Amino acid sequence: MSEIETIEKEALGAIEQAGDLAALDAVRVAELGKKGRVSCLMKTLGGMSPEERQTMGPKLNGLRNRVQEAVEARKAELEEAELEKRLQTERIDMTLPPRAVPEGRLHPVMQVFEEMAAIFGDMGFTVAEGPDIEDDWHNFTALNFPEGHPARETHDTFFFHPQQGAAPKVLRTHTSPVQVRVMEAQKPPIRIIVPGRVYRNDWDATHTPMFHQVEGLVIDKNIHMGHLKGCLIDFVKEFFEVANVEARFRPHFFPFTEPSAEMDVKYRKVGESIEIGEGDSWMEILGSGMVHPNVLRNCGIDPDEYQGFAFGMGVDRLAMLKYGMPDLRPYFEADAGWTRHYGFRPWLSPSVAGGLS
Ligand code: PHE
Repeated sequence: MSEIETIEKEALGAIEQAGDLAALDAVRVAELGKKGRVSCLMKTLGGMSPEERQTMGPKLNGLRNRVQEAVEARKAELEEAELEKRLQTERIDMTLPPRAVPEGRLHPVMQVFEEMAAIFGDMGFTVAEGPDIEDDWHNFTALNFPEGHPARETHDTFFFHPQQGAAPKVLRTHTSPVQVRVMEAQKPPIRIIVPGRVYRNDWDATHTPMFHQVEGLVIDKNIHMGHLKGCLIDFVKEFFEVANVEARFRPHFFPFTEPSAEMDVKYRKVGESIEIGEGDSWMEILGSGMVHPNVLRNCGIDPDEYQGFAFGMGVDRLAMLKYGMPDLRPYFEADAGWTRHYGFRPWLSPSVAGGLS
């Protein structure tokens, strides 16, 4: 057998044997690469006499072409096989339900914010917001907490380091400072609610140092206590989705309202759960009152022309009552199991007409 025939036989055999594209490429380099066997044979043509070249030229060209073709053909085969293998292993069953549905949930407190915005929105309220870091004026002084007044002590305030000469800033202890901000910026009539975070240095089974409130403020001509009561009773009915709510307004003290009242509603225990509206016990759910004339004056509003009412409620506990969550502490533990269980689908926006929850 001539050298050419031997090389051809070996090369075609190796090509046939190549089990994958990497092995095939190694064979190609060994035969057709710069220093490959076939390439080296081709180079010998340069040293041949013209007659020799006449006979050897076509033989060597033929050898190179056949090896090249064999490599191409095997390459196509291997690529086809590889694709087939991927199609088998990456096959997906389109009839299976999707696995990776988005897991995000709205925290119950955010859901309740949305529900309250929907209920009060229907009554003509808009949503206002203010900063979590407040100055002494908005959190206390403008709200008729005089300097050194004992009512300031009841809030367990978090204070910042004082700046030179100025009263220290605080983490707002309630959402009431936003009443002041809105009255300073806007002429009556005013009808707002204020959802937000508030902070007090309290930490036990029923208190967390950060919690949530919704404030309400209505300022107009001829506003009286009857408006306050009607508005809040309607709210409680809508919020707890019950037809009747028996409520009482129990005298209380807040520096920024006069008279002031805490609102209690009747409830009964049914097994583990609590039904709001009727029953044999009273539960306190919010603070309220007629805006104090000093507060109106502090905000540039004439109390002889305008009056109003305000209220503030703790949202975390209202959410617990409505959705039967027994414990406040998991609210802020960011436990995905808890939010999956108690959280809400974010695209189901509550509305009074379409359903709140
Ligand atoms: N700001 C009061 C509190 O945090 C609640 C309140 C708001 C009371 C408005 C009356 C009027 O306890």
